[in-house]
Amino acid sequence: MEQYSILFRTLGGFMVALAILLSGSGLAHAAPGLSVAQRPPMGWSSWSSLRGSISATSIKAQALALHDNFQKYGYQYVNVDAEWNSGIDKYGRVTWDPKKFPDGIAPVAQYVHSLGLKFGIYLVPGIPAAAVAANSPIKGTSYHISDIADTSLPGNTANDSSAAIDYTKPGAAAYVQSQADILASWGVDYIKMDFVGPGGGVIAADNRVDIEHWHQAILGTGRPMHLELSNSLSFADASTWERYSNGWRITGDIECYSHCTGLTNFTVRVALRFADVPKWVPFAGPGHWNDLDSIEVGNGAANGLTPDERQTMLTLWSIESAPLLLGTDLTKLDPFDLTLLTNPEVIAVDQAGHPALPVSQATQQQVWFADNHDGSYTVALFNLANTPATVTATWSQLGITGPVTARNLWTHTNLGLQPASYSASLAPHASQLLRVVPS
Ligand SMILES: *[C@@H]1O[C@H](CO)[C@@H](O)[C@H](O)[C@H]1NC(C)=O
Ligand SMILES: *[C@@H]1O[C@H](CO)[C@@H](O)[C@H](O)[C@H]1NC(C)=O
Repeated sequence: MEQYSILFRTLGGFMVALAILLSGSGLAHAAPGLSVAQRPPMGWSSWSSLRGSISATSIKAQALALHDNFQKYGYQYVNVDAEWNSGIDKYGRVTWDPKKFPDGIAPVAQYVHSLGLKFGIYLVPGIPAAAVAANSPIKGTSYHISDIADTSLPGNTANDSSAAIDYTKPGAAAYVQSQADILASWGVDYIKMDFVGPGGGVIAADNRVDIEHWHQAILGTGRPMHLELSNSLSFADASTWERYSNGWRITGDIECYSHCTGLTNFTVRVALRFADVPKWVPFAGPGHWNDLDSIEVGNGAANGLTPDERQTMLTLWSIESAPLLLGTDLTKLDPFDLTLLTNPEVIAVDQAGHPALPVSQATQQQVWFADNHDGSYTVALFNLANTPATVTATWSQLGITGPVTARNLWTHTNLGLQPASYSASLAPHASQLLRVVPS
């Protein structure tokens, strides 16, 4: 009997695993998920610091700085963002700007790979206006852009005069495949797909079917490529994004642009994420993560955040297991910021993949926590107010039976036994990050 029941339990577990593997959604996750984004991506992205002033030279300089200062902590992606491209190739696919990348993209990707890093690039869905105008042939088919374009609908949310792809037409999937294939041939490891709707952007567009086709096309290349969606993706479609991508921007840009003076600002940009992220937490997990946008820490006060605000930004991103993609200029590193960005205990919280939830958001003194499913909990204390305040984590409110032993992860300090609660006096916009273990 004993042996039977063990056999049954083992077989039962196996059958459940098999059922998950064979189910539709299991398969959709499995193919990219097995190799991509099992942990939140870490690296650097060009938009915040360089904007359109990118070139082969500047990307290589940032890649080298990432290699020298960050790679050993787990940062690996070097992501070229918007404005790398100019015009289309003979098959209607966007291609590089020869003034910025005189030898194309492949040699830059090759250099990044030679450092042991991974290479990312940026695209928008739909058919570029230039490809519609040229009625380009679709590679490997007898079709042309006019056979697949729906010029009555926009290709994306950017208001860039692009056309939508009509996937009921033969040649449509082949066009997306030809785009994925050329990125794979350049050595791309990460694709940021911007102006994806329903979501943010300038105009309304529906790219849900595009993302499904991109997912398939990436599988079709045989090359593992991370697919990240931007920006302000519609929450109503969260399960679609979860199924077909490896991450999605939950909200708008972290950059201030004309809304304030720094690159970003705590009140105007960072603090908004505290309200935005909780509802998205159930959708994050291995293979697909909630993206809070670039980390604007690295160049000291020039990035628009006080030292406390920088630590708080990293604390929120880490407890949410958000991508840690640096937006700052890595060739002008501030020594204090470097210590924040390379704190192994904080990075480990991010990479462990247990997104946290707030106990309450009724006040600006907030406690967020996550069960790490290894007998420990992550607990973060935030003072989001503009004045100093005491923040208290009460174990019973977290579903933890005290006493606990606590460790301050930012300072690498054991805080000893904390019977029923833990309190910290926090400066405006300051935070603490703890690992607690019931004892
Ligand atoms: C979209 O672009 C057109 C010009 O190309 C402009 O007239 C229109 O106002 C833009 N729409 C929005 C919402 O910005
Ligand atoms: C962020 O913006 C707020 C509101 O405009 C401003 O009071 C604050 O000084 C800014 N923070 C920094 C560090 O510049």
